[in-house]
Amino acid sequence: MSVLAKIPLVDLKTQYMQIRDEIHEALDRVMDSAAFIQGAAVRNFEEAFAAHHGTKHCVATSCGTSALHVALMALGVRPGDEVIVPVNTFIATAEAVSHSGAQPGFVDMFENDYCIDPAKIEQAITPRTKVIIPVHLYGQPAELDEIISIARKHGLAVLEDCAQAHDAEYKGRKVGTFGQAAAFSFYPAKNLGAYGEGGAILTNDDEIARVARMLRDHGSAARYHHDFVGYNYRMHGFQGAVLGVKLKYLTQWTEGRRRAAATYRQALRNLPVGLPSEKAHVRHVYHLFVVRVKDRAKVMNALLQKGVECGIHYPIPLHLSGAYAPLGYKKGDFPVAVAAAAEILSLPMYPELTDGIIEYVTEALRPAL
Ligand SMILES: Cc1ncc(COP(=O)(O)O)c(C=O)c1O
Repeated sequence: MSVLAKIPLVDLKTQYMQIRDEIHEALDRVMDSAAFIQGAAVRNFEEAFAAHHGTKHCVATSCGTSALHVALMALGVRPGDEVIVPVNTFIATAEAVSHSGAQPGFVDMFENDYCIDPAKIEQAITPRTKVIIPVHLYGQPAELDEIISIARKHGLAVLEDCAQAHDAEYKGRKVGTFGQAAAFSFYPAKNLGAYGEGGAILTNDDEIARVARMLRDHGSAARYHHDFVGYNYRMHGFQGAVLGVKLKYLTQWTEGRRRAAATYRQALRNLPVGLPSEKAHVRHVYHLFVVRVKDRAKVMNALLQKGVECGIHYPIPLHLSGAYAPLGYKKGDFPVAVAAAAEILSLPMYPELTDGIIEYVTEALRPAL
């Protein structure tokens, strides 16, 4: 491969070319029906996504952030409440809490899996805490058994953030089926991605589903009958159509990610990089392949010189972000997440990654290490 090669962090075009005709047919059907907002394509996707998980309800939304927001409100979170959130997640997890008027109570990550550390949750629970949000970060499930037993003990709900973990499994069962509700993102680069914004809530609870459906559509169950103040959080017909096509390929694409991860492990095994763990009782779906390196700036620069794009997910733990500075946390509060943030590096990861590309990435890494 030439020095001018460009290896993207995520490659959406290769996948699109494989399903182009099917996608265009599905989009044509939306055009022909003129059902641009929700409509049959979205309803069909909701049914398929719920069936895929064996859950009773799927409520499609405009994005993952709105799915989290609506789910929190449907779980009864109100201004003045608190919600437990891992400090190392994409800001949307915490933002959804803020949008509901509540306050995130941050918890450090577990060194081994980058997910919320169950041993540190109880110390963050206060009389105002209502919900725990475990985030299955990078595609690896958080320790759900421990988290759910803490939630039960304190009378709290669990809302799974599955934005990075479509089809991941915990002890043989798909994530998104453990908590009272779960939120997914279909941002284009996600393991199941729309061609625009999209999100969904899964739940087996009829009341949560009913309220969530109304909240996403201006507080209404019937047109122009608004029982409470809601939002315009509806999914577009085009996104429902795209997701309906892509869901059929999710299993195959997940296998592609897992194969690429296994190849990376083999290729990088003798290099001084910290490899991601894969816990024995989970099925990791490798939304991201995150390694740890000591001199990250130098390594990133060396990769960029060779045309390899990489990323940092995420460079600033949320308690140190400007957005959450007013909460008054200190740098030393979450030492595991702070240490990880300085060393993590996301290498290119997508289902179509070839052995040749992984070899190229490895050779680009070698001299920098
Ligand atoms: C962990 C996590 N939660 C929530 C979200 C929010 O999803 P969206 O971008 O669809 O609003 C994302 C992704 O962007 C995410 O990675």
